[in-house]
Amino acid sequence: ERPKPLAGKRAVITSGPTHEAIDPVRYIANRSSGRQGHAIAAALAKLGADVTLVSGPVAIADPEGVSTVHVESARDMLAAVEAALPADIAVMVAAVSDWRATDSTVQKMKKKPGEAPLPLQLTENPDILKTIGHHAQRPHLVIGFAAETQDVATYAADKLTRKGADLIVANDVSKDGVMGGSRNQVMLVTQETTEVWPDMDKTHVADKLANWIAGRL
Ligand code: C5P
Repeated sequence: ERPKPLAGKRAVITSGPTHEAIDPVRYIANRSSGRQGHAIAAALAKLGADVTLVSGPVAIADPEGVSTVHVESARDMLAAVEAALPADIAVMVAAVSDWRATDSTVQKMKKKPGEAPLPLQLTENPDILKTIGHHAQRPHLVIGFAAETQDVATYAADKLTRKGADLIVANDVSKDGVMGGSRNQVMLVTQETTEVWPDMDKTHVADKLANWIAGRL
């Protein structure tokens, strides 16, 4: 048996997209696969942590050795994360929809021939990372992700402060196959340091991040 550096530590992870209902059959979503978040949950569990994974709708299996809670919307995801507190570690990997439909309808919206399309009014969703980063029960280590297509380091540093995180793992989603794919190339930004990791498999990023976390606790 290898030593388990995270034994006795509780971790809560978000992963996947959220689905925001427009009507009973339509929703707002994004291309997140849940691969990176699920891999991080599994990697932390391997190091002995007691892990709660809060997952949006994904096509991949629940990781082994992890307690998985399935949710659809951002508001449900936030409630599930808060229910998992207190925790020592929070890693917010989910690609949460920034907006939801202001009024989702109970009946399916109907297209009426000859009429203009119905307008879709949007309301901002809660920011889960920011809420947890400033929470009364704030975990000791709060980690966020930043999917950017430009000025990755600048936006990551800004996000770190604004969201009350200890670490932002930034990736450039303009690179082919990162969003929804199996590989990732990340930059780790803290208040003191910036570290660039080479392109690698998402499971390898997860293992390295779990070790980074173990070194910080
Ligand atoms: O602001 P932005 O969406 O770029 O921030 C990304 C980070 O914030 C990720 O860690 C993501 O999981 C988290 N986030 C969140 N709730 C939101 C939006 C983003 O937890 N509503």
